[in-house]
Amino acid sequence: MEVLLLNGSPHAHGCTARALEEMKKEFAENGVEVTELQVGNNPVRGCIACGSCARSPEHHCVFSDDVTNQVIDAAQRADGLVVGSPVYYASPNGALAAVLDRTFYAAGRELGFKPAASICSARRAGTTATLEAINKYFLMSNMLVVGSTYWAMVHGTTPEEVDQDKEGLQTLRNLARNMTWTMDCLNAGEGIGFDKPFVERSAKTNFVR
Ligand SMILES: Cc1cc2nc3c(=O)[nH]c(=O)nc-3n(C[C@H](O)[C@H](O)[C@H](O)COP(=O)(O)O)c2cc1C
Repeated sequence: MEVLLLNGSPHAHGCTARALEEMKKEFAENGVEVTELQVGNNPVRGCIACGSCARSPEHHCVFSDDVTNQVIDAAQRADGLVVGSPVYYASPNGALAAVLDRTFYAAGRELGFKPAASICSARRAGTTATLEAINKYFLMSNMLVVGSTYWAMVHGTTPEEVDQDKEGLQTLRNLARNMTWTMDCLNAGEGIGFDKPFVERSAKTNFVR
């Protein structure tokens, strides 16, 4: 079992990293392998809606000069996905949003029926709006959004402040266990013939027609 942890923050060792670390420890204790990717602080392109990804056998984006195609490959390989974001103006940070736009436009269909979770870190507010924005990628891609004992957020401007958010960290540990359990159940179900459901896609009606 393998889970991809994607950190959207420009800070490799910031608050979002501290939050993901809490989940990583819990996954490790439960025998789940973890792959980590950082959006980091290099330039990231936005989606240019060129449609090249639809013709890519690997479901890759036309731009290979940032982390997006690595995210696409790792997410397709993984059994589950966790996306972590700092809160920027009550939203996911812009670079992460650009990576998610391109990842899901190119490969969202390949991620169906994988458990997914969003987590965020904020100084103070805008957390649930940020989680909702990230969950929207999952929820229109047939992914299974996993919950916890509270919304999966921590508070702080330094990792040391996040350490003090005991309930936030507890929520993340519970989330990691819930994801592990969900992945185990799906795996066991497939083993006894519970295949993924058929997905209808023939109807595509725009609002103007
Ligand atoms: C451009 C920018 C916008 C921010 N907007 C918010 C905000 O809307 N609400 C909030 O509580 N914190 C906001 N913050 C603070 C960060 O969300 C917070 O410090 C977060 O824990 C940083 O995580 P990181 O260390 O992983 O980057 C903002 C920070 C920046 C740089």
